[in-house]
Amino acid sequence: MRIDILTLFPELLETPLRTSLLGRAVEDGLLTVAVTNPRDFAGGRHRTVDDEPYGGGAGMVMQCGPLFAAVESLRDRNSLRRIVLMSPRGRRLDQNLVRELAAEPDLVILCARYEGVDERVSRALVTDEVSIGDYVLSGGELPALVLVEAVSRMIPGVVGKWESVDTDSFYHGVLGPPQYTRPPEFRGMRVPEVLLGGNHAAIGRWRRMEALRATRERRPDLLENLTSEDMDLLAELEAERGRPNTDKEKSQ
Ligand code: ADE
Repeated sequence: MRIDILTLFPELLETPLRTSLLGRAVEDGLLTVAVTNPRDFAGGRHRTVDDEPYGGGAGMVMQCGPLFAAVESLRDRNSLRRIVLMSPRGRRLDQNLVRELAAEPDLVILCARYEGVDERVSRALVTDEVSIGDYVLSGGELPALVLVEAVSRMIPGVVGKWESVDTDSFYHGVLGPPQYTRPPEFRGMRVPEVLLGGNHAAIGRWRRMEALRATRERRPDLLENLTSEDMDLLAELEAERGRPNTDKEKSQ
């Protein structure tokens, strides 16, 4: 997969793109990430990329010219099917959108700075506006990195073991199950017994149960479109709630 990121601050992206999982994916050729600076496409002695908003108001607005030219310069390398603008007014990023974007052969991601971009960029250039949450950052660079990392995890081979992705929160529509590692007991807190045995069916069932428990407690809004097996497990959780002397400990 190829991802082109347009930013006025390429240095903000350098280390994260070189480090850990992303860095390895790039090194292994599973992912190509190229960074383009729209300022290189701005005319004039000062290579200006922004101007005051028509109608007045605070802040500066990124102009159409450099952004259109920068995107058009990618035409030979990128299908330009999905041109994503990171923006707090976009569609909220979730695992479904991540999966959808990861299925594309390539993406262009625009990082806006200042008060935003000229509306004609959104209307005539951008195919998707994406937000990483209901808060405002100073620019789209950190949101772009969030998107790139989430998308790259979906590319086969990027995450060493596919099981890691398979147990990620949200991958199967619910939060992930709790995880434990050595030692088996720490300050009186024991690892659930089922995890210490080798019964994979029992471990799988326990994990799904605990994933549903965590989701019910923290994000009940996610408990939609469950399988009939999940409904049975949830019914068990409900029954457990009514009983004294928490079965939760016992089931661990
Ligand atoms: N740019 C500034 N804030 C943002 C947000 N919440 N999501 C995406 N891009 C942004």
